[in-house]
Amino acid sequence: MLNAQDRAIVKATVPLLESGGEALTTHFYKLMLSEYPEVRPLFNQANQASGDQPRALANGVLMYARHIDQLEQLGGLVGQIINKHVALQILPEHYPIVGSCLLRAIEEVLGKATATPEVIAAWGAAYQQLADILMGAEEGLYQQKAQAPGGWRGARAFRLAARVQESSEIVSFHFAPVDAGPVLKAEPGQYLGVQVLIEGEEHRRNYSLSALSDGAEYRISVKREAGGKVSNFLHAHLQVGDTLNLFPPAGDFTLASSDKPLVLISGGVGITPTLAMLDAALASGRLVHFIHCARNGALHAFRDWVDERAARHPQLKRFYCYAEDDGVSSPADALGLLSKDQLGQWLPVERDLDAYFLGPKGFMAVVKRHLKGLGVPEQQSRYEFFGPAASLE
Ligand SMILES: Cc1cc2nc3c(=O)[nH]c(=O)nc-3n(C[C@H](O)[C@H](O)[C@H](O)COP(=O)(O)OP(=O)(O)OC[C@H]3O[C@@H](n4cnc5c(N)ncnc54)[C@H](O)[C@@H]3O)c2cc1C
Ligand code: HEM
Repeated sequence: MLNAQDRAIVKATVPLLESGGEALTTHFYKLMLSEYPEVRPLFNQANQASGDQPRALANGVLMYARHIDQLEQLGGLVGQIINKHVALQILPEHYPIVGSCLLRAIEEVLGKATATPEVIAAWGAAYQQLADILMGAEEGLYQQKAQAPGGWRGARAFRLAARVQESSEIVSFHFAPVDAGPVLKAEPGQYLGVQVLIEGEEHRRNYSLSALSDGAEYRISVKREAGGKVSNFLHAHLQVGDTLNLFPPAGDFTLASSDKPLVLISGGVGITPTLAMLDAALASGRLVHFIHCARNGALHAFRDWVDERAARHPQLKRFYCYAEDDGVSSPADALGLLSKDQLGQWLPVERDLDAYFLGPKGFMAVVKRHLKGLGVPEQQSRYEFFGPAASLE
């Protein structure tokens, strides 16, 4: 527990973080990634270049400083961070590196006149307190995943058992463990950590499980990103029989048990976790409205897969919205961008429902606003990012 003086000093720096937090975390990443090459593979360089990761960290640090007196009010933030960390295998030995670079960045960005020895000492103690909370929670998750049936800790070698082209941009990869043992059953909505070596350089990425795990193998479905390192490598080079390492599934964007109607809304490759959620919900007999938006029919993955389920399960209603008509694919239920009126027509009449959505950031901001405007209680509308968390406001 921090002493009262340290807490007061940390709280007094909140206005500085509000105005300069991003400059500080950007400087922090520059220091750390240039001086500690061993942590580079953990970080997606694209998220540094876009500024998304420095922003996510700045927000985390700011929320922590604001709530230093009532850490329980950090709510979902800690769960989100530890799940991301666990899926990328962040370990206790990484924390002192982050701690020392963060303190140096505070000193170098704020200047010695503001970042006095007292300020640095208070932030050092505050960092250690948060690091202890995160390391403790992460160790709990690592142990839980290692001890569960089919579970493991760290990297485990998997062989590509099958690859399936799902749309012009998305390929599914089915992985079975090289040791032929069982695999941990993930919760619908969780994601794996993938570790690959490309031209001798290690990269790690997260991919959502696009099917319920059956205890024997996993399926992920990857969109080829223009200029993207790992997605292009997987699409172009990973063939049946090849091996790579996977970290155990993690993630807190999971389908909570409920008997309310379920609405799953996705844009593009954001469809992946909603597929596992769909099967879990159908198995429990829930009413499901499945809404998917794609740029056009050629880019629409899993249409047949969802249609086949809709044919078998009368409690599943599915709606498709294409930004444009490609003139060849089966028609959508609506054309253009998803409007509030259209969404209103596709939601169950009863608005006391659970909504889960995922897609590009702009799409999610619109969906969030529409759901609220259409009377869906905000706390019943959940989402996740295929990258560092950001604000949708
Ligand atoms: C929880 C979670 C679940 C996810 N699930 C899925 C999923 O189910 N399916 C899926 O396809 N993806 C998923 N993702 C996204 C996935 O992890 C990768 O981010 C995605 O595949 C892109 O990785 P990449 O290596 O191909 O591209 P990157 O190399 O990361 O590049 C991404 C983009 O940034 C650009 N870029 C790269 N470096 C720079 C630079 N230095 N300057 C400027 N621009 C740059 C690239 O051109 C590209 O357009 C998920 C992400 C998370 C966090
Ligand atoms: C107290 C210390 C730490 C805090 C407050 C913190 C905070 C965060 C936050 C807020 C995110 C974004 C979460 C999200 O997008 O959902 C994140 C992601 C991440 N963190 Fe940490 N973190 C800490 C320590 C560490 C350490 C020690 C490492 C390893 C060196 C690390 C590596 C990562 C990585 C690799 C990601 C994902 C980055 C990406 O997607 O590009 N973190 N962390």
